[in-house]
Amino acid sequence: MTQEKANLMWGGRFAGGQDALMEEINASIDFDKRLAEHDIFASKVHAKMLSDQGIISEEDYKSIVGGLDQISLQIKKNEFIFDRALEDIHMNVEARLKEIIGEPAGRLHTARSRNDQVATDFRLWVRDQIDFSQKLIKSLIEALLDQAELGADWVMPGFTHLQMAQPVTWGHHMMAYVEMFSRDLSRFTDARDRMNECPLGSAALAGTSFPINREKTSSALHFKAPSANSLDAVSDRDFALEFLSVSSICGMHLSRLAEELVIWSSAQFKLISLSDRFSTGSSIMPQKKNPDAAELIRAKIGRIFGANVALMIVMKGLPLAYSKDMQEDKEQVFDAADNLMVALAAMSGMIKDLKANKENMEAAAHFGFSTATDLADWLVQKLNLPFREAHHITGQIVQRAEVKKCDLCDLDLAVIREVDDRITEDIYSVLSVQNSVASRASYGGTAPSQVRSQIARWRKTLEL
Ligand code: ARG
Repeated sequence: MTQEKANLMWGGRFAGGQDALMEEINASIDFDKRLAEHDIFASKVHAKMLSDQGIISEEDYKSIVGGLDQISLQIKKNEFIFDRALEDIHMNVEARLKEIIGEPAGRLHTARSRNDQVATDFRLWVRDQIDFSQKLIKSLIEALLDQAELGADWVMPGFTHLQMAQPVTWGHHMMAYVEMFSRDLSRFTDARDRMNECPLGSAALAGTSFPINREKTSSALHFKAPSANSLDAVSDRDFALEFLSVSSICGMHLSRLAEELVIWSSAQFKLISLSDRFSTGSSIMPQKKNPDAAELIRAKIGRIFGANVALMIVMKGLPLAYSKDMQEDKEQVFDAADNLMVALAAMSGMIKDLKANKENMEAAAHFGFSTATDLADWLVQKLNLPFREAHHITGQIVQRAEVKKCDLCDLDLAVIREVDDRITEDIYSVLSVQNSVASRASYGGTAPSQVRSQIARWRKTLEL
């Protein structure tokens, strides 16, 4: 049975039967059925072009399109029976078409091959995923902008080496991610533009002798242009790899943010609380609220990196043009896309829901002599000291605060003046964390004024 069905498609020259294992290793229908909608779309466009060019009759075209529409409906209604014996989505659709319309079905595959067919279907699928990811990234950016707006002047600890460095604003921290995700948006736009060429009509590898109209096919499938080299068009998967690498970079941003949410929501930091909607409890410790969604985002991103590497390895040794190895592209990309989408959506939800704890953030911003740099800057600006000398003096003042176990702003002026008697009462004006952040009003700095102008800029640019 198995052999008979496949034979209808390509079995003309085969006499012997196939090992059962061959189906096991060869069939891709279990996963490439996800291309069904795109496969049918591309087939309808191809059939129309064939008919317009007089390569098939209009009558055959009409019956092909009618049959394909029926198949599409059956698939939507979950009534289509996918058959492993028919290997892949292309042959499943064509075989069903034959059952429905009979002989004209055999004319659909004129002037094309599964090689250009799969390259086309897969591009269409990846292109849709890019559009979908961009929508999700935009709603994540919107959630970040809302958080930034709410806490444009909320002071929080800014870290380097995860050690307290300088106070920053919550708004500034949120806006750092807006920058990152906006670059991801533009990377997806670039990738989309590069991949937006139509392989259909490249046929198996060399093009076709039929008088096809590739411009027509390309524009009906909303591609920018037909691909210019048939060997390249059927044998490269750089568009899939570019999707995976852009997804990896975006995923890396998601994962870093996820890691920050895990840290900030811990009992030791308490800078934020995550909503119940994105947390779970512990089955044994009643007090616990775990940031599982953030942890899973962090972990799932690893799968995207894995897919990127896996497909690179599949491709790197393949001579031109098509080799069956390339069938292994789909599962990697499907899995990566699924994980990217769920991670983006969950992150948006978490950011929308999370409550930043203004009081705790401000209290934490005082730790670790966070305004020491402000003190050094004051010495430079008010006493005209070289920064290196100011750094040294500040170090000595920090040492005194450390011995006395107090904040810089709690040191007596007399103690400060033991280090350098040119320092005046005015020094206290720069030692508060609010003052520290407000003073960093250089372009791109953490001052609330800067944060607000960046929020306005992004809202305008992205129309959010
Ligand atoms: N299922 C195949 C794939 O995904 C379609 C192309 C098959 N081409 C061939 N020459 N066997 O790569």
